[in-house]
Amino acid sequence: MTPPALEVRNLHKRFGDLEVLKGVDLVANDGAVISILGSSGSGKSTLLRCINLLENPNEGQIIVAGEEMKLKAGRDGALVAADSKQINRLRARVGFVFQSFNLWPHMSILDNIIEAPRRVLGQPKADAIAAAELFLEKVGIADKRHAFPAQLSGGQQQRAAIARTLAMQPRVILFDEPTSALDPEMVQEVLSVIRALADEGRTMLLVTHEMGFARQVSSEVVFLHQGQVEEIGTPEQVFEHSKSERCRQFMSSHK
Ligand SMILES: Nc1ncnc2c1ncn2[C@@H]1O[C@H](COP(=O)(O)OP(=O)(O)OP(=O)(O)O)[C@@H](O)[C@H]1O
Ligand SMILES: [Mg+2]
Repeated sequence: MTPPALEVRNLHKRFGDLEVLKGVDLVANDGAVISILGSSGSGKSTLLRCINLLENPNEGQIIVAGEEMKLKAGRDGALVAADSKQINRLRARVGFVFQSFNLWPHMSILDNIIEAPRRVLGQPKADAIAAAELFLEKVGIADKRHAFPAQLSGGQQQRAAIARTLAMQPRVILFDEPTSALDPEMVQEVLSVIRALADEGRTMLLVTHEMGFARQVSSEVVFLHQGQVEEIGTPEQVFEHSKSERCRQFMSSHK
């Protein structure tokens, strides 16, 4: 049996005395699209950031395509890379799309996309460019390849950021509210790119406030409450037949 693309076991994260994640378990099989919902401060971003080690968890395991990230206790008690080569290799398999795009402002869109594949994956420049052009076409901004990020609309910048993530050939892509920094008229163009990725069987974790979209696109929905998985199931189960009162309240206040 192939191992899940991503597995998180018993993940804990503290900021000082504040315990933000209190033992989160999550399995994303190949092709799964898992939406993570929950009120502000429930730990959604922290969960995604810990998976990619943008934050150091305090406890738990992160397993990418069957390979566990080797972590050890650091000075402040949080877990840090025990083998930086291994961690860099695994992190490269986990793409991250931020709310705020995070493109490099001094580089053209094409250079933004080929930078990591060249540097981290060692792709020859011509190959990286050829791949980047395909991804730009896929997200519908092939004509912007020589532009700089500031010359693009927010929706175009986010599509460029998605192309940049795809260029790293990730096993799983983490999206943290990819449309919440956008003007309303640009939300749909980014959602339709994400929908196309779901349709081609990409494995994704998606934090979003776009409830209708989450419902349509997800294979599974997780409702996070105060750092714990309060409810998990199919979109229908979580949206319509939640066992948790808090989850039901959240759903009815976000209709
Ligand atoms: N770097 C940090 N230092 C201290 N506390 C933090 C830090 N990052 C997050 N927190 C706290 O952790 C908790 C969870 O934050 P997180 O950003 O994960 O929530 P969220 O579910 O993503 O919320 P939102 O929907 O507002 O984005 C909050 O109480 C937040 O204040
Ligand atoms: Mg957040």
